[in-house]
Amino acid sequence: MTRRAGIIGYPVGHSLSPVFQQAAFAHSGLDVVYERWETPLPDLPARVAALRAPDVLGANVTVPHKEHVIPLLDEVGGLAARAGAVNTIVNRDGRLFGFNTDGPGFVAALRQEAFFEPGGRAFLLLGAGGAARGIALALLEARAAAVDIWNRTPERAAALARDLGAPARALADLPPLAGYDCLVNCTTVGMKGGPDPEGLPCPLDSAGPGLLVVDIVYAPRVTPLLRAAAARGLRTLGGLPMLIYQGALAFELWTGLPAPVDVMVRAAENELARREGAAR
Ligand code: ATR
Repeated sequence: MTRRAGIIGYPVGHSLSPVFQQAAFAHSGLDVVYERWETPLPDLPARVAALRAPDVLGANVTVPHKEHVIPLLDEVGGLAARAGAVNTIVNRDGRLFGFNTDGPGFVAALRQEAFFEPGGRAFLLLGAGGAARGIALALLEARAAAVDIWNRTPERAAALARDLGAPARALADLPPLAGYDCLVNCTTVGMKGGPDPEGLPCPLDSAGPGLLVVDIVYAPRVTPLLRAAAARGLRTLGGLPMLIYQGALAFELWTGLPAPVDVMVRAAENELARREGAAR
């Protein structure tokens, strides 16, 4: 029996998940078709109910449905419940289990791709949306020493820090970067097609030489922030590894097999390069 998986969101036309998940299934010799399940909100209950069919492994969930799917599931894992967001659904014999692999994918990318252990380290997160929430939670779980949050709209940072509890805290003003081990851009500044594609989410003048600069934006692959960091000789990590590792963790939840991460990275990079070439 050919089995199915897919991504639920609206829109999903530009999602890279079908590209690298399909590559992973093919590489692993699994007869699975990964589909784009574009789902307007009114259709969400029926879409999620359809995941209970015996040929469905599960789904990824993306914007704007990560919160909306929760009441439609049978069980939601601890981290997903605390994040208030599910990005992976697993169908086990008709029961639907919700997980969140976004934050753990970020931590895995830090460890595997930047050789950076978050435990005991000081982080500054820029942004206070859903992406920042998932990452902050995973960093607290990984025992980061400090998770400071700064956001353009300070009330959102304060609300997020309150939710998370110590050692997370909100900063009203951008602090000097010298005291941090890692800076993470969780805003959409620098994103192609976003509100400020050429912008920097913060200046880097105060950075110490050991700062790791991470951007969760993956299109373009080298954002203005990453370019500025590299020009200062700082270590950088782009957003693609986080995307791949959240997908790799989802693949492992669906299949019980280790994800072929390298195959997934290559498939995603090829597709991004194709798109960047096509846009020129
Ligand atoms: P997500 O769930 O993907 O994190 P979001 O909830 O829309 O998306 O959050 C986007 C983040 O980018 C927010 O922190 C937002 O700041 P505000 O809370 O002040 O809106 C931030 N952001 C978006 N555009 C920005 C800009 N031009 N300058 C600074 N921050 C920006």
